[in-house]
Amino acid sequence: MNFSIFLICSLFSLGYYATQKSCPRGFELYKNKKCLIFAQTSLKHLEAEQQCRSYGGHLFTVNNAIDNRAINDLAANHGLAYIWMGMYCFGNQTNLCYLDDGSGPIKYSNFNPGFPRIDTERSGCVFMETFGNDIGRWSTSPCEWSGLWYLCEGPTTVDDPHPNCIHNYNGNCYYPSHELNIPVMNRTFYATESICHTHSMELLSIHSREEVDYIKFLYNGTDIKQVSLGAHAIVPDEFAWTDGTKFKYENFDPLSTAKGNCLTMNVDTDREDNGMWYQTICQTIQDFVCVRKAGKAIVGVEEEPMEVEDVEVEEVINPKFQMVKDSKTINLADASHCNTTLFLAPGTITSIDYPSQSPRSMLCTWKIAVLGAFRLGLYFTDFSVYEPVFVYSSNGTLLSFRQFDHDPFSVLAPSNMITITHDSVKDAQYQKRGFSATVLPF
Ligand SMILES: *[C@@H]1O[C@H](CO)[C@@H](O)[C@H](O)[C@H]1NC(C)=O
Ligand SMILES: *[C@@H]1O[C@H](CO)[C@@H](O)[C@H](O)[C@H]1NC(C)=O
Ligand SMILES: *[C@@H]1O[C@H](CO)[C@@H](O)[C@H](O)[C@H]1NC(C)=O
Ligand SMILES: *[C@@H]1O[C@H](CO)[C@@H](O)[C@H](O)[C@H]1NC(C)=O
Ligand SMILES: *[C@@H]1O[C@H](CO)[C@@H](O)[C@H](O)[C@H]1NC(C)=O
Repeated sequence: MNFSIFLICSLFSLGYYATQKSCPRGFELYKNKKCLIFAQTSLKHLEAEQQCRSYGGHLFTVNNAIDNRAINDLAANHGLAYIWMGMYCFGNQTNLCYLDDGSGPIKYSNFNPGFPRIDTERSGCVFMETFGNDIGRWSTSPCEWSGLWYLCEGPTTVDDPHPNCIHNYNGNCYYPSHELNIPVMNRTFYATESICHTHSMELLSIHSREEVDYIKFLYNGTDIKQVSLGAHAIVPDEFAWTDGTKFKYENFDPLSTAKGNCLTMNVDTDREDNGMWYQTICQTIQDFVCVRKAGKAIVGVEEEPMEVEDVEVEEVINPKFQMVKDSKTINLADASHCNTTLFLAPGTITSIDYPSQSPRSMLCTWKIAVLGAFRLGLYFTDFSVYEPVFVYSSNGTLLSFRQFDHDPFSVLAPSNMITITHDSVKDAQYQKRGFSATVLPF
């Protein structure tokens, strides 16, 4: 679409408009409250979650008995007998069950007696039964079960009067530059910021994992691999969103060493863990996205004061999903961590006595899990060992083994858990400082 046409259309579409709840594309609104997609097919848990994420949503979660009942009825009406929930349990107590939406341990539960019950690795996926004696009850099961249906849930948004608001999500209209007609030379950071501002919009700022997923979804099927974000650093490494919103969530690529005062998001679908951000110089010519609040009058005109009715703009994010900067570094030098299980998402781990050139000698195994039913990405940012560091998937498949000195590299696990083993017995003798790695869900 051409921006001048856009402008003209906008001028004719003014006036009062009552905001109404609606749903992003693909979702349907139920009870004027929840945006849902009902499965067309049965899938394994992770596949189902990925399907939901590809629409900017997640497997459904419930926080109270009323919602549990409502979801149960809807699913039963759609003929779905067993449905995956957006939850993963790491142990036999409900306080070890985490929601995939990043909101932390569950506060409401409706498990069958004897559940959650974790007998084997990767048996902590949760499903709901929608008929029979155990109607509405939850159970845990192996995540690899493939005969279960699912239900995706996404954020509600606000209806927009303007037909050019094709990408309406979480209360915003998104305008990706490839759908507009912007001369290439105008696609540097400062030029794009002024283009968005001219049309009373802002450059894209991102505030949740789901929004990352949604932006990826906008670029799926295009050959665009990078998109600029509306962030700018006044002081190196200290970014602020140009729309004035708080920089609370981040998704930096731990392996990127690029420097610059602007940010780019990788939307390359060839990369499994895409969606991550890295620094770029602001003169880089790139695609971008302009964003405005949905349900508002548009473009260079006085805005009607608008009552945006309870759109949850600032969802509470599990602190564990917030900035890596704020999350704690677990220094495995604390010998009590040796041979233990660590839950973190995100977080940083380092080997014994890192970065000392003469670490103590210790053989350790660490089991590491990211909260929720995501895949685990392990990003070694510094690597210098004598004996190899072995990384195993949850079913014991060797994913990586490297030794000596290495440039930064990543290991992408097939599930939410890995096991790392390392023997530092010869590290001191050969002056190896050990490793540091960032753990992120993707
Ligand atoms: C991209 O779109 C295709 C076709 O709609 C879909 O099958 C695929 O899962 C999507 N990929 C991602 C990463 O969402
Ligand atoms: C959960 O309980 C079962 C049955 O008592 C037991 O076999 C299993 O090891 C327990 N799982 C965990 C993770 O403690
Ligand atoms: C692109 O940049 C040129 C030169 O700065 C400017 O004259 C022109 O108006 C810009 N075009 C758009 C669509 O912003
Ligand atoms: C960790 O476990 C391994 C294998 O079971 C054992 O050899 C090693 O001594 C343990 N390390 C510590 C510090 O307990
Ligand atoms: C289990 O192992 C097989 C190969 O042996 C691998 O293809 C599969 O991805 C693994 N699954 C998990 C969840 O680790």
